[in-house]
Amino acid sequence: MYVRQIGPRVIVQTPAKLNLLLEVLARRADGYHELETVMQAISPCDTLEFAPTAGTEITLACRWGWGLVSQGGEASAFGDLPVAEKNIVWRAVAKLRERAGITRGAAISLVKRIPSAAGLGGASSDAAAALMAANLGWRLGFSREQLAALAAEIGSDVPFFLTGGAAICRGRGERIEPLSRSVRLAAVVVRPPVGLATPEVFRHCRPADEPVPAAPLCRALATGQVAEVGKNLHNRLEEFAARLTPWIGRLRNEFARQGTLGHQMTGSGSSYFGLCHSARQARRVASRLRARRIGVVFAATSAITNNHLE
Ligand code: C5P
Repeated sequence: MYVRQIGPRVIVQTPAKLNLLLEVLARRADGYHELETVMQAISPCDTLEFAPTAGTEITLACRWGWGLVSQGGEASAFGDLPVAEKNIVWRAVAKLRERAGITRGAAISLVKRIPSAAGLGGASSDAAAALMAANLGWRLGFSREQLAALAAEIGSDVPFFLTGGAAICRGRGERIEPLSRSVRLAAVVVRPPVGLATPEVFRHCRPADEPVPAAPLCRALATGQVAEVGKNLHNRLEEFAARLTPWIGRLRNEFARQGTLGHQMTGSGSSYFGLCHSARQARRVASRLRARRIGVVFAATSAITNNHLE
């Protein structure tokens, strides 16, 4: 997350994420699943602008970024764009305001470049950006811990985006342990024309009989061995998502021919990514896959951060 403050306005570039590893450990009594997942913040970023207003209303203007529109054609090709109260951004800001016990208003604008229903964390990232921006813009002075607790109430992936970088996440996904030293990663991501709803994928999944440990992947990240990172990718949800849409199998076949270091679905899908040894290779693979007309294709790299709460 990259945060700038210009007078009372706060502008946040907030990234997507990839799940380099996602293991489902158990089904919980509260309906959630106990996870161990390694997440990496990546480009592209959504842009959220927050401006305090004199009134009491919270307004949200939201649109898709041109890059996505030019590739995806119809907006429905890369996801819904919920308005006002239906948008997680609006709800996050309203919740923070309620918790702070104030009634101040805000005008928020959001440009989305991260496709939705994609396993890329777009909505969660926007919610984290909104919390960060409102905390600064309204000068609320909430601590990192307070914001993280609020973030976890909004969604399991939201706390990760307050930290960014690479992290191992446990519990529902809301318990974050940042991975201190991480290697710069390049990837190609494809969001097929069909999205997947997270609850639906989790409903169909079964916890692992023999969980894949995260340690080898974390070691590879810490020592900068990108090829080893590629060999240790894992996503337990992929086999279950593949039963819900033929796109996962199709993307697996497409990536198998591209010579990447490793490839898999991210999060609960429907996006699929290949890890590359360089940004150059990622751009090359992206242009080959674009010609295949399999959805929105982009080359990504690990995202930068200047998180104000560090
Ligand atoms: O926390 P969030 O609202 O993002 O989760 C969306 C849905 O995904 C949950 O309602 C649940 O069905 C499923 N989920 C799960 N286990 C997790 C995270 C999400 O079952 N650890």
